Amino acid sequence: MSTQIEITINGDRYQGTVENRTLLVDFIRETAELTGTHVGCASEGRCGACTVLMNGEAVKSCLLLAVQADGFEVQTIEGLANNGKLHPLQEAFWENHGLQCGYCTPGMLMALSEFLKNPSRDEHEIRTAMSGVLCPCTGYVHIVDSVKAAVDKLEAMDPHDREQLFAPIGEV
Ligand code: FES
Ligand code: FES
Repeated sequence: MSTQIEITINGDRYQGTVENRTLLVDFIRETAELTGTHVGCASEGRCGACTVLMNGEAVKSCLLLAVQADGFEVQTIEGLANNGKLHPLQEAFWENHGLQCGYCTPGMLMALSEFLKNPSRDEHEIRTAMSGVLCPCTGYVHIVDSVKAAVDKLEAMDPHDREQLFAPIGEV
């Protein structure tokens, strides 16, 4: 059985007729051709590489059907930078060696971008926020350092600019 759906991804509308069993991650990667969202397990919810924001909340896009996202706003890693300027979290990962192979990084950044709406340097809170995303490479220490650096960057920003970072993409 198929259904006609429309999902807004990074501010752009994508329409399609999908089989009802189509996963959201497959819609993102194949219909929208946004391949920055990765699949790191057998779409079983174990790795978190497929994490995106759906109406601002971090979700594993392999655990949702595309039809469940019909009418929703989705943000993927391709939508994290704004007008060619990296998100402070991306800058912090770059500057603090928060990645090695980079396979987990899109999902890690999306999960942590939700966390930064209520930023904290508390290590336990940071580790809890990233606990849904596995990173076999880094040992996580540099990722935690990167998040703390991103919190510093956010606090140094003009409050209006900081607010814009978390506004729905169509409203920026
Ligand atoms: S692809 Fe592994 S949790 Fe979604
Ligand atoms: S950087 Fe390689 S899996 Fe995280």
